[in-house]
Amino acid sequence: MSLPSRPLRVLLDTDPGIDDALAILLALASPEIDLAALAVVHGNCALSEAVRNGLDVLALGGAAHIPVAAGCDRPLLRPRFHAPEVHGVSGLGYAALPPSPAAAVAEHAVDLLIREVMAAPGEVTLVAVGPLTNVALAMRKEPRLAGSLRELIYMGGAFRIEGNASPLAEFNVYADPHAAQIVFTSGAPITIMPWDITRGVRITDVHIGRLLERGGPIAHFVAESTRYYMEMHRVRLGFAGCSLNDPAALALAYVPELAVTRPVNVEVELSGELSVGKTVADFLGKTDRAPNVRLVEQFDGEGFVEHFLTRIEALIDRA
Ligand code: RIB
Ligand code: CA
Repeated sequence: MSLPSRPLRVLLDTDPGIDDALAILLALASPEIDLAALAVVHGNCALSEAVRNGLDVLALGGAAHIPVAAGCDRPLLRPRFHAPEVHGVSGLGYAALPPSPAAAVAEHAVDLLIREVMAAPGEVTLVAVGPLTNVALAMRKEPRLAGSLRELIYMGGAFRIEGNASPLAEFNVYADPHAAQIVFTSGAPITIMPWDITRGVRITDVHIGRLLERGGPIAHFVAESTRYYMEMHRVRLGFAGCSLNDPAALALAYVPELAVTRPVNVEVELSGELSVGKTVADFLGKTDRAPNVRLVEQFDGEGFVEHFLTRIEALIDRA
């Protein structure tokens, strides 16, 4: 898929969330992207916190004008499932941001997604980095949506490694597996960036120190939000640093050459007590189900981390 000569129009469906916040800043720092709006969804924290975080991070990045729409505050069928142990109750770890001068728009995120995509068929890239509740409902409300996207890039799923939300399932799928199943079987042009890959795409204290050398509120925010995130990674996952799950997924929109993907059929376990939310890829063609996604199998994590830091440094210098 060739990149357009003008900036790519991107909608970010997100549950900010520390790594979501870093993805928002990366989008603001990247001239290849025209960030049209945030569609906020329940997930890492309660919807109300996530909406406030989205507004405040946009304002931190000098983009308080970008619309933020509140979406679904719970999964389609399962009970709410948040991750305060990973992102803090506020959703941004130890960071405290000045409140944005802007408020969320009155339009529901589901309606915003439909309106934005259907106004420019084939031109909008939807990057979804939270539970897929908003996206699934938008597809149900507007059946033409899936076929009108330029691309749907999704951070989620655990295919060949253990889950991070349950022994088998990755958080974004586990939090709303029914929504994920609806989206994966929608026929949309989906690229999945799985936990298998992003687990190893990490920044460390050394990288944070590089940003702090520049000083300023953005560097301080990245340091304070990731300090909480890194403590969790050390205690719960046993490694130093923290995973840039959502920024890595965003980068696929404008630097697709960082990744190698393969077509595969993916569906979601919905009923197993132990396995609900498990993403099941038919790698060996054991079923008659046709491939429905492109799954990232290789990714230049080191190259991306340098790209991320360079872009955030540029945003700091621009602020
Ligand atoms: O499993 C990681 C994903 O779940 C990331 O998008 C993180 O922000 C959480 O939403
Ligand atoms: Ca997220």
